[in-house]
Amino acid sequence: MDLILLAMKEQTFNSGTKVINEGDDGDYLFVIESGNLDCVKKIDGEDKVVKVVSAGDVFGELALLYNCPRAANVLAKDDCVCWQLDRETFNHIVKDAAVKRRNKYDNFLNSVTLISSLSAYERSQIADALKAENLSNGDKVITQGEPGDKFYIVEEGALYATKDGNRVMDYKPGDYFGELALLKNQPRAASVIVDSPTAKVLSMSRLSFNKMLGPLTDILQKNVGTYK
Ligand code: CMP
Ligand code: CMP
Repeated sequence: MDLILLAMKEQTFNSGTKVINEGDDGDYLFVIESGNLDCVKKIDGEDKVVKVVSAGDVFGELALLYNCPRAANVLAKDDCVCWQLDRETFNHIVKDAAVKRRNKYDNFLNSVTLISSLSAYERSQIADALKAENLSNGDKVITQGEPGDKFYIVEEGALYATKDGNRVMDYKPGDYFGELALLKNQPRAASVIVDSPTAKVLSMSRLSFNKMLGPLTDILQKNVGTYK
């Protein structure tokens, strides 16, 4: 990681600057320190903002990951400070791990009903944000009444939820839990416990949850209505 930081160069872009031009070859990816940028694509002949990126986000990674032309225009909405990483350093240090990670979760995330309405690009961003946690039978992933900062998707194994001592839900791969505390800013409403010899869950921070699953709030709220 230190090597990457050493290789990164600070760049400022004034409001209105076109930082990336769709169709160009790409030699850099960017990490945003401050400011906001629009990612714009021509869809059915019309320019459409497909994503707004801001502090902490990465953009311009696709051309480097897949050796393809820039997939969108990126325009500074205000004065921005970014850190750029060149293709050569990226290829040496980051690329293999990043491609492996995206491919690894691609198939699995395609099968998760909750996020099936998102675009392939949005799902790849989710793949980047997930952290795998390996668990054993009886492990308590969530404890009722505690504060909560993570959202979970089951990758392998079985788990169940208990509320006030009653079993209220069973989970299998592709299911999710832990959304309520984040949606409603309240303590965990149930406990979630592993019910198989081993299990694997993918967790996502509150920040990523808000950013990436924001568009799914309606679906999440609707599903809460089915809880016992
Ligand atoms: P890259 O193709 O290198 O350059 C344009 C960038 O726009 C792209 O990498 C992504 O980082 C970003 N982007 C944001 N949303 C999208 C999208 N829906 N499709 C393609 N690129 C996107
Ligand atoms: P959260 O409250 O963040 O943490 C416990 C999770 O258990 C909760 O989110 C839901 O995802 C899940 N859960 C399953 N069934 C229930 C239920 N009947 N009431 C509340 N939470 C439930």
